[in-house]
Amino acid sequence: MAKPVTSFTCTACGAAHRKWAGRCEACGAWNTIVEEAPLSQGPAGRGLGAMRGQQVPLSGLAASEPPPPRARSGVEEFDRVLGGGIVPGSAVLVGGDPGIGKSTLLLQATAALARAGQHTIYLSGEEASAQVRMRAQRLGLADAPVRLGAETSLRNILTTLDAEKPDLAVIDSIQTLWSDTVEAAPGSVGQVRAAAHELVTFAKRSGTAIVLVGHVTKEGQIAGPRVVEHMVDTVLYFEGERGHQFRILRAVKNRFGPADEIGVFEMTGGGLAEVRNPSALFLSERGQPSPGSAVFAGIEGTRPVLTEIQALVAPSTLASPRRTVVGLDSGRVSTILAVLEARCAIPFAGLDVFLNVAGGMRVSEPAADLAIAAALLSAREDVALPPEAAVFGEISLSGALRPVAQAENRLKEAQKLGFSRAILPEAQKVEGMEGMRLDRVLDLTGFVGETFGAG
Ligand code: TYD
Ligand code: MG
Repeated sequence: MAKPVTSFTCTACGAAHRKWAGRCEACGAWNTIVEEAPLSQGPAGRGLGAMRGQQVPLSGLAASEPPPPRARSGVEEFDRVLGGGIVPGSAVLVGGDPGIGKSTLLLQATAALARAGQHTIYLSGEEASAQVRMRAQRLGLADAPVRLGAETSLRNILTTLDAEKPDLAVIDSIQTLWSDTVEAAPGSVGQVRAAAHELVTFAKRSGTAIVLVGHVTKEGQIAGPRVVEHMVDTVLYFEGERGHQFRILRAVKNRFGPADEIGVFEMTGGGLAEVRNPSALFLSERGQPSPGSAVFAGIEGTRPVLTEIQALVAPSTLASPRRTVVGLDSGRVSTILAVLEARCAIPFAGLDVFLNVAGGMRVSEPAADLAIAAALLSAREDVALPPEAAVFGEISLSGALRPVAQAENRLKEAQKLGFSRAILPEAQKVEGMEGMRLDRVLDLTGFVGETFGAG
């Protein structure tokens, strides 16, 4: 018989390790690795060869029944991120920092689904029913026929769901649940995984859609949502910057729709309000044309979104100058700085560089390269870019510009918002864009020469 193996798991990213370490090699977090109890030596421990299982019924690939209709909440920004509504029997994880608005969002969505005739249950392990009721009242949702419960015992929750057979159940949050079959504290990796596993299995078996709320955790003792990401069908993260009222719901994994789709909300006194035109919102704080600002025509999921990329470049007093990047991939920014230095002979050594995306948005498309370079150059040369121009294009290590996907969608969105000009790669094929001036750029050196008259 094999010796029971103890394993170590990172509570932040879920990576498994053979031994304990102070820092997780997978995600770089400190003090997040905890010991997990060995798997129980049940029948499986005796070796599978000894037992005969049941034969699994196999079937062909051709679908025999039409896909079940999705339940639409009517909260468009929420439905779209799910791929057009919630799929019966699916398991959805909604992760996010504590206090970002997960409970508010899900209470609003659940109430909307309940009003649309769905049998919905909202189970809170964090707040008493009276607290949730008070919030519902404040949000004007008190009349919605949502069934409310406060419970943390997984066994009781499963018994309740089995009896009620709802269309949708929200579990707020997965970290508060405990199963009496697992010998570990609530919130530990073992408990969180066991609870998620049971609930996901229940969803598949019963057809109830399950939404699990998971707090992103900073300390090691509580497991974060990432440890259950692989178990669910859909993973959504609710993001936002402190001090900004904008909230972005982002699909990072979706078996039933496109990943990278975003929904945009604004946190108001009366709950989350949908933002139907995020481009207008993200550009709303743009004032007079100023150096260091570039408008990027991006795509988020199926939707074009315009954002403003802001750069500040200033002489540094530090031996290794600052590179502060918010909302963009800092590795990507370093690459662009290196290309500017090596291919265009524009050094950033001795200069502090600050870059961010206005409005608290996060941009990860390589298509943003040219807009990042434009913002950096504009800040460094102290020359404003043409205010009527939107920018997109990917930069290769040689300094050449590569075409990107969905150029027409980007351009149409820019035109809709009043931009009459676009700076884009030479090789980009564009069809049917009348009334828009297209400034085509072959490579970064050419762009520098044309836009800033320098080389
Ligand atoms: P909450 O949904 O409780 O966050 P989470 O479940 O992710 O921890 O949201 C908490 C914050 O939202 C809190 O700081 C107050 C704010 N808020 C509003 O601004 N307006 C509202 O109508 C509600 C309900 C909350
Ligand atoms: Mg909450």
